[in-house]
Amino acid sequence: MEKTQYTPIIIESLIFGKNSDYPLYIKSGGNYILYRSKALIFSQSDALRLKNNGVDNLYIEIKDKEKYDNDVLEHIETIIKSNDTNFEEKAVKIYIYSKVYAEYVITTGNLRDNQENVKKSIETTVEYLLMSEFAFMNLLNLSSYDYNEVGHGMNVSIYSVALANRLGFSNKMSLYEVGLSGLTHDIGKLKIPKELLSKKGLSESEVYKIQQHPIYSKEILMANNIDNYNIINGVLEHHEASNGSGYPFGKMEEDISTYGKILIITNKFDSLTRNRPYKIKLSVSDALNLMEQNSELYNTAFLREFILLMSKKTVL
Ligand SMILES: [Fe+2]
Repeated sequence: MEKTQYTPIIIESLIFGKNSDYPLYIKSGGNYILYRSKALIFSQSDALRLKNNGVDNLYIEIKDKEKYDNDVLEHIETIIKSNDTNFEEKAVKIYIYSKVYAEYVITTGNLRDNQENVKKSIETTVEYLLMSEFAFMNLLNLSSYDYNEVGHGMNVSIYSVALANRLGFSNKMSLYEVGLSGLTHDIGKLKIPKELLSKKGLSESEVYKIQQHPIYSKEILMANNIDNYNIINGVLEHHEASNGSGYPFGKMEEDISTYGKILIITNKFDSLTRNRPYKIKLSVSDALNLMEQNSELYNTAFLREFILLMSKKTVL
């Protein structure tokens, strides 16, 4: 008999007071335990009780995923359009909703199984960012500055969409593409042994191996049938530099794509402002100053816009 497979869902994505069409499970010590059979109603107090017990995710069987996805898509659209949910609360819902799918994609490299949800979560973020000038700040206030690949992917995605928007990217499709490129830029690190990524004092060949991760990111995207060259170039070029000193190709600015130029800035900024096991993070203004001092690494017009975007955040 084939083993039942499960997939995580976020508690907030369930519609309170409604019975789901599928059973819900809790994961405990590697096992999935039935939490609610399908006829039972899930209430807000159930959600609170789970949260108080430190449970963030429930699980459903993979075979029920399509039904669940349809419920969530309907729900998240209601949230973003609803007048009952205030603007800050919307940011919280969108952030946690996006995080579940970001986590799945970044830790497994599997985009295909959740493609619709990943797409929806980035589109919802884009939609939210376009609603008000305060939206960017609301989302960033939720982001984690601790070292973690999922938080890094989400931040780079949000920064990149906000910068592209500021640079005048006029259609939602291209904002979505830059968001997906930002989210998945480091996905290629999955192909590099973990010990190597956290090792101090690397040999030349080990540095070379790590510097190939943008190429691996491209390979993973292609394996997931993502062949849009804007998205691919963004991930491929996120460690390049305008003066040719970057990697893996050492491209000069004129050979770097627009998405690449955006990701070089947003990736660098997020790396500088987050805690690492072996590195102390910089404040927002110290990071921006440092980048300005090394402006030969970046497209200067883009960098200027990014500094304006981020200074707005610190002033407000
Ligand atoms: Fe990277």
